[in-house]
Amino acid sequence: MQTTIRKCLFPAAGYGTRFLPATKAIPKEMLPVLTKPLLQYGVEEAIEAGLNTMAIVTGRGKRAIEDHFDISYELEHQIKGTSKESYLQEIRKVITNCTFSYTRQIEMKGLGHAILTGETLIGEEPFAVILADDLCDNEDAGVLAQMVQLYKKYKCSIVAVEEVPYEDTNKYGIVAIEEQLALKYEFREDESDAGETLNPDFSLGDKAFKITDMVEKPSPQDAPSNLAIIGRYILTPDIFDILRETKPGKGGEIQITDALLQQAKQGKVIAYKFQGKRFDCGSVDGFVAATNYFYNKSNA
Ligand code: G1P
Repeated sequence: MQTTIRKCLFPAAGYGTRFLPATKAIPKEMLPVLTKPLLQYGVEEAIEAGLNTMAIVTGRGKRAIEDHFDISYELEHQIKGTSKESYLQEIRKVITNCTFSYTRQIEMKGLGHAILTGETLIGEEPFAVILADDLCDNEDAGVLAQMVQLYKKYKCSIVAVEEVPYEDTNKYGIVAIEEQLALKYEFREDESDAGETLNPDFSLGDKAFKITDMVEKPSPQDAPSNLAIIGRYILTPDIFDILRETKPGKGGEIQITDALLQQAKQGKVIAYKFQGKRFDCGSVDGFVAATNYFYNKSNA
């Protein structure tokens, strides 16, 4: 079995109702923060983490995504030799550095169902998942790159987490954690390449924890902690069989959180407190905060 992470799955079939009317004809993943669509930020984060195969789960009305990650000959012709060429530099780099494949989710039955729909593009290998409306930024290695480092050591599923106010637990998958993993290696199945490719500067410190419980969108009084899962996952491929058996949960939808709980019960899911900033661009407030942050950064 392939053990390195090469592929990144982007669930992108949702309706984006919180951004209506903007998302009536435009996929929410294509909304720009400054001049770059949210999805391109996600793809660039995956490339930076060493991944080169992008697998996108789309739906009806999402064709702009495929066109974006393709050459526009007409546009190229128009701006060739002008100063405007530089505007296309970043996206050209993305297109030449990875491949894109697509499949459609016919019915919206939850994030777990979207990930299971992507099985045909992923196959039998570990993979990353990026939810593009969680926009992340870090001065050093990106959030996914940090998680890939961790995966090389533990070879199990990993979710990125951050503390949120208790009144917000009902917006996230919430985890309960046990001990620090810094000195523990009990998850490691294959020691052959463990350590060799690890960046020596990458210290887990008190950042990685074993998950003992996870609940999708609990009310504050039922939340096992205030550690929320954000839209970055590394999943081992046995998740697909588990998802096939997962019954609809919160909101009548098939939840990835419920499937991951099955792996967690076997001690095989890590919560990782990532380094960096994360903006919830699925909400107007988060979107505006991200826009201001990247604007200030670009003018710094
Ligand atoms: C999904 C997941 C949730 C996770 C969140 C991160 O929820 O179901 O567990 O915490 O993404 O953004 P959604 O935001 O799609 O409602």
